[in-house]
Amino acid sequence: MLTVGVIGCGYWGPNLIRNFINLKDARVKICSDLDERRLAHMKQLYPSLLTTTDYREVIRDGDVEAVVIATPVSTHFAIAREALDAGKHVFCEKPLTDSVSDGVALIDLADDRGLVLMVGHTFVFTAAVNKIKELINGGELGDVYYLSTARVNLGLFQEDINVVWDLAPHDISIMDHIINHKAESITATGSDHLGNGLEDVAYVTVFYPDNIIGHIHVNWLSPVKIRQTQISGSKKMIVWDDNSPSEKVKVYDKGIEVVKTTDQIYDTLIQYRTGDMHCPKIPQTEALALETEHFADCIEKGIKPISDGSAGWRVVQMLENAENSIKQRGKEIKL
Ligand SMILES: NC(=O)c1ccc[n+]([C@@H]2O[C@H](COP(=O)([O-])OP(=O)(O)OC[C@H]3O[C@@H](n4cnc5c(N)ncnc54)[C@H](O)[C@@H]3O)[C@@H](O)[C@H]2O)c1
Repeated sequence: MLTVGVIGCGYWGPNLIRNFINLKDARVKICSDLDERRLAHMKQLYPSLLTTTDYREVIRDGDVEAVVIATPVSTHFAIAREALDAGKHVFCEKPLTDSVSDGVALIDLADDRGLVLMVGHTFVFTAAVNKIKELINGGELGDVYYLSTARVNLGLFQEDINVVWDLAPHDISIMDHIINHKAESITATGSDHLGNGLEDVAYVTVFYPDNIIGHIHVNWLSPVKIRQTQISGSKKMIVWDDNSPSEKVKVYDKGIEVVKTTDQIYDTLIQYRTGDMHCPKIPQTEALALETEHFADCIEKGIKPISDGSAGWRVVQMLENAENSIKQRGKEIKL
């Protein structure tokens, strides 16, 4: 039985608590938040849960083997470092840290101590993302040409991070999971409309080997909520609409074929292919249930998680460089 302590019970922390409680071989003993009202809420939901406003009590608790961190990004490094130093396994929400150097320090610390460090890249545990990965790896799409994502809605404006750090970790971790290549370079543009230096609209472009291009649009100033990804390949194309209650992933048998009649460029003919569309069956399992189970499993078996510290670091590296590129009006930055 794995004993877990959770730090941060705002919007996301309670989802993690619920899923760890639901695991057969885990229990949540204690949780922490700076806000007494959040703790009272958790106590109301789970009367046997211990609560504290001092996160160090969670880390110091002798029964707690794993610390789950769901606090704002700027606090992740200090809390995760203390927990690893105290010999606890760590599950840290995305993004792992707010700088590349802090991410490296956490990876090294976890490795030195032989502890599991996992990052909350929730989408990597969704059935839709894994179906898309299966289709790409199985060659159904052919050569991947591009991925294009839109994660836009009105708000929630964050006080300490821009829209890239808030929303793009999802898309970057998804691309990292499904594209079997390391990104080569990144460019990003964005703008801030509150005058606080935190961009609320941003466009990030990632260049991969083999002429694969990824584009991410993140936006807190959109009148509508869109969660859509398009992936195009030489054989088929995918549209994944995460807002759709059913038929989230659609595979289109559409594409182009280039026919050369002679060596002259003006003799190139493009033929368009429009075939059927099909929707693969996507299981309805909650991603967080699989994610929390995977964390417990990695601790029990002593294995590295799918979204380990290195995966977390790769996302932070992209975020940091996207921000650098935005500050230089879209300069391309080699990774
Ligand atoms: N994986 C996902 O899909 C997903 C979704 C939403 C949020 N998140 C991540 O979860 C984390 C929290 O986001 P949120 O939306 O729940 O934020 P939130 O602001 O709603 O909650 C954060 C909570 O942490 C508490 N807190 C801050 N410092 C603390 C400290 N030192 N000790 C104890 N408690 C402290 C705050 O009082 C607050 O209640 C972020 O890293 C965010 O990126 C992940």
